[in-house]
Amino acid sequence: MYTNILVSQNNKITTITINRPSKLNALNKETIQELHAAFRVADLDADTKAIIITGSGEKAFVAGADISEFADFSVSEGSELAAKGQELLFDYIENLSTPVIAAINGFALGGGLELAMAAHFRVASNNAKMGLPEVSLGVIPGYGGTQRLPILVGKGRAMEMVMTAGMIDANQALQYGLVNHLIAQEELLPFAQKLAGKIIKNSSVAISAAIKAINAAFKDGVNGYNVEIEQFGNCFGTEDFKEGTTAFLEKRKANFPGK
Ligand code: COA
Repeated sequence: MYTNILVSQNNKITTITINRPSKLNALNKETIQELHAAFRVADLDADTKAIIITGSGEKAFVAGADISEFADFSVSEGSELAAKGQELLFDYIENLSTPVIAAINGFALGGGLELAMAAHFRVASNNAKMGLPEVSLGVIPGYGGTQRLPILVGKGRAMEMVMTAGMIDANQALQYGLVNHLIAQEELLPFAQKLAGKIIKNSSVAISAAIKAINAAFKDGVNGYNVEIEQFGNCFGTEDFKEGTTAFLEKRKANFPGK
């Protein structure tokens, strides 16, 4: 069904794997469209409560946008590339109601790091390397990297990473707070699945509300506290809330209907 990605579903967790290892999983136009479709399908699937995004092979998560596709673009084509990509994939993932974990299994460069940063949080293998090398190509990050990197690591570190176009290793990424956990490569996916397993035990409706409220803290012109109040109130009208509170009072485990 897809040419550049693999999708598998197990135990309410959908894993999306970018599968162009010979090009270090670089994001070409078709891959971005396929990823959009796969995230959309997973988000609408009542049997998917968490999504893991990773790269195939042992070398790369994603080594960036596919440079061969945009090397001869004009100014307007460049703007359109960034705008379309942000809308279809990067903003789309950030605002998805299903939680998304990026499992960074190797190089996450340029659009690859931007993809990982659009996920709700990140885990990485010890061999991972991350960077935004765009200025070494005469361009800047265009898939949200200049906005999300300073939020995650702070302005000074983001400036240094972007200006030097260098890579940081997994330990430095952990120290920067860019990734939450470092794991041996062969344990990375099982670890991400274990984390997803903890998430899916909770109310998916409440988690979607929490994603909206947390994202609101980083949106210009939006009062995050008001979004929190609204989302908090909405929870009281859900079946999950009735089940969660009733189960607590009855001293049993909640079995959330996800509604
Ligand atoms: N776009 C298109 N193709 C890419 C790519 C990208 N971002 N990154 C890697 N590839 C391709 C290479 O062209 C090569 O293809 P080929 O075998 O047909 O020549 C293949 O993937 C393997 O990459 P290679 O460079 O040979 O591997 P390496 O181990 O020597 O180097 C990197 C690994 C990640 C350091 C190097 O590939 C690199 O610098 N990639 C570009 C990173 C980048 O600038 N990304 C930001 C883009 S905006």
